[in-house]
Amino acid sequence: MEAVKVGLVGMGTVGGGTVTVLRRNAEEIRRRAGRPIEIAVAAVRDPARPRSCDTSGIRLTTDPLAVAADPEVQVVVELMGGTGLAREVVERAVEAGKHVVTANKALIATCGNELFAQAQERGVMIAFEAAVGGGIPIIKAVREGLAANRIQWLAGIINGTANYILTEMRDKGRAFDEVLAEAQRLGYAEADPTFDVEGIDAAHKLTILAAIAFGIPLRFEQVYVEGISALTPEDVAYAGELGYRIKHLGIAKRIDGGVELRVHPTLIPERRLIANVDGVMNAVLVWGDAVGPTLYYGAGAGAEPTASAVVADLVEVVRAMTADPENRVPHLAFQPDALEDLPILPMDQVETAYYLRLQARDRPGVLAEVAGILARQGISIEAVIQKEPPPGSQQVSVILLTHRVQERRMREAIRQMEALEDVTAPVVRLRVESLGGR
Ligand code: NAP
Ligand code: HSE
Repeated sequence: MEAVKVGLVGMGTVGGGTVTVLRRNAEEIRRRAGRPIEIAVAAVRDPARPRSCDTSGIRLTTDPLAVAADPEVQVVVELMGGTGLAREVVERAVEAGKHVVTANKALIATCGNELFAQAQERGVMIAFEAAVGGGIPIIKAVREGLAANRIQWLAGIINGTANYILTEMRDKGRAFDEVLAEAQRLGYAEADPTFDVEGIDAAHKLTILAAIAFGIPLRFEQVYVEGISALTPEDVAYAGELGYRIKHLGIAKRIDGGVELRVHPTLIPERRLIANVDGVMNAVLVWGDAVGPTLYYGAGAGAEPTASAVVADLVEVVRAMTADPENRVPHLAFQPDALEDLPILPMDQVETAYYLRLQARDRPGVLAEVAGILARQGISIEAVIQKEPPPGSQQVSVILLTHRVQERRMREAIRQMEALEDVTAPVVRLRVESLGGR
């Protein structure tokens, strides 16, 4: 059968991996898709740059829009990144009646509502498995495998770079900047690595997961986001003493009348499987009412793991080319006219347990004052550790674990603690999740 012709926009880490996987597994892919899949043309910024893949037989251009317009191209694979030119490429491809595959979570999270509506109108698919969790087929699992369930919550380590940095800092005591530079060399990080370390990339992915889990529109601008750049080795060590690991989690939870969407460093009991997901690996824990908890694990970034998801989408698109557009799996899992625009809960109303670290003068009565402030805010303490002051210092570190309480109460308690004369530095506050039940 005649090959399906693909136009690649971007042939960097993921694009290069995609070419390699398509070539190496061409026969397996043909047997699965029913037709060979061939890359006809690829857009790059610098055609003279050496490539990681075999580019023979691929026409190179520096014009991404020309790929979308190319009459030979039947499917456009956008692996360039960004939301400017990349959006234009996807819009032009859809307008021209071409299916699109993309790994671009920023584009899907911020422009997906409009792009999917346009694709629906033109009867084409925009496939985005590689946008979340690298090589883990998490979109397919949530959108199709869990379709029977009312999903209650999901929590995921969904940024490989951040997890790699946290793991290397904890296990080998390496410096943040050095590990980040290595993640960039390995091709894990975004073009702007602050997206990785400040939680923006994880928020893009959480936006997508929440939409397909709950049947809500993509609401990136309403995600609460904290990154990992303020975490200290001290807190990682104290969390360990208390039996916890600190992971950078994206959490989406259905609550009465709305949804919580948040990305932040989180203490998780170390006995949980997800607490032991290290390095560039990602994992997503999903709680469905029928199935209970399910956990999806795999490489969260990198050339071939991400290419695995891109090529899987290509196979699906090729299989669906002849299917009636009305009978395809909806982009956001639920039929477009059945999406519910549930309110996203403001962070002040979110309830979690907390880890607090205070630096205080080593004087009698300080702990009693702190306990009094917490009690007046209705916050009960689960554990306290007071560290011996270092030699020659009058300052002690006090670590507290609290029970669950609304964020606004904790903010007020911290404000009052920081106003105490004997509390000598800003209070460190991290959230704690047990990830145990419904
Ligand atoms: P990358 O290595 O920087 O590759 C980007 C590619 O796009 C390069 O080939 C570059 O050309 C080309 N390009 C950029 N701007 C262009 C322009 N104006 N005109 C023509 N070509 C242009 O990026 P990547 O890591 O592969 O990421 C690509 C996408 O996949 C992003 O959306 C990213 O978020 C997503 N993603 C990445 C990973 C990962 O592990 N890296 C995982 C999942 C998803 P040159 O090669 O000539 O510079
Ligand atoms: N920069 C992203 C990460 C790539 O590190 O997870 C995969 O989406």
